[in-house]
Amino acid sequence: MDGCQDPVLLNDWHVVGFDRDIKTDTLYPVRLLGRDLVMWRSNSGQVQVWEDLCVHRGAQLSKGSICDNQVVCPYHGWRYDESGRCTLIPSAPDEKPMIKARAFPHHVCERYGLIWTCLGEPSSDVARFDEWHDPNFMTVLAGPYHFKANGFRSLENFLDVSHFPFVHGAYNGVASKPDALNRYKVEMTERGLVSSEIRVMQPGGDARGVPIMSNYTFSVYRPLVGHFVKRIQDIDEKGSVVEGYDTHYATYCAVQPIDETHSTLWICGALDVKPAPAEKAVVDRYDVIFEQDRQIVETQKPERIPADLRYELHHWTDLMGQRYRRWLREMEVSYGTL
Ligand code: FES
Ligand SMILES: [Fe+2]
Repeated sequence: MDGCQDPVLLNDWHVVGFDRDIKTDTLYPVRLLGRDLVMWRSNSGQVQVWEDLCVHRGAQLSKGSICDNQVVCPYHGWRYDESGRCTLIPSAPDEKPMIKARAFPHHVCERYGLIWTCLGEPSSDVARFDEWHDPNFMTVLAGPYHFKANGFRSLENFLDVSHFPFVHGAYNGVASKPDALNRYKVEMTERGLVSSEIRVMQPGGDARGVPIMSNYTFSVYRPLVGHFVKRIQDIDEKGSVVEGYDTHYATYCAVQPIDETHSTLWICGALDVKPAPAEKAVVDRYDVIFEQDRQIVETQKPERIPADLRYELHHWTDLMGQRYRRWLREMEVSYGTL
């Protein structure tokens, strides 16, 4: 197989689509870790992710069609059922196809409205997103956002606070008056890296468009899955915190590594801010923020993230990024890193 040979990433779960977007009558080409895949939904409702390759002569199955709940190869019309078994060779319709005539399926699961696949054997479960299940939280899906950038660079940006005033001025910070960051800690827990709270003032931090004080806790659970929850405190006209009305805004970011220098970000949001904003306002805000991020992250050089801390310059305010890179290095992630 071409593409990624990195066991850490091959044995991890990666998002390849929103569950809501996948219809039963369509073949979806997908690219993951430099490999071409085909995704489709059979009549049972189950989503399938296979290598985009016909075992007969190597044609791309995604260029074929679906007929009677089977994938039809575009070249000689061999048909594959949802178990991946070839059921028909049209040029010899009375013969039972040989056992070796099979598609190459991968593990698939659905979580948080996302379709995940694993190209190897899953080394762990999909990273948890606890706020998603809290009945007091509204939930939204946003993206996908396509970055012509390395997946680790994209996720590190998601974990980075000191860019807020400059990249997201008027939303997440004020460029003319950037907040000095408090000293924070990053701990390795059994679920991954977790920061202590980082406090910043945000002129429009939560889709209601009002100034707030945000206290961020960042986590990175898997090499390409990050999460933050910000504890929100409303502030009055003088900028003082209005105590006793804390709300929360959580974002879960799963990065699909298309290849070493391209990535797609799939976003789940969960928030209990009051009054609850319209779903469209939340999604529109994500669209603005991730577009601002994209414009910066696509310019970063070298494109592959330097996991070796001797490269690039690190400051204590970047502790989360430093620990993320060191963790990638400890796990010996090689695909997409330097
Ligand atoms: S290559 Fe698929 S049927 Fe021949
Ligand atoms: Fe950002």
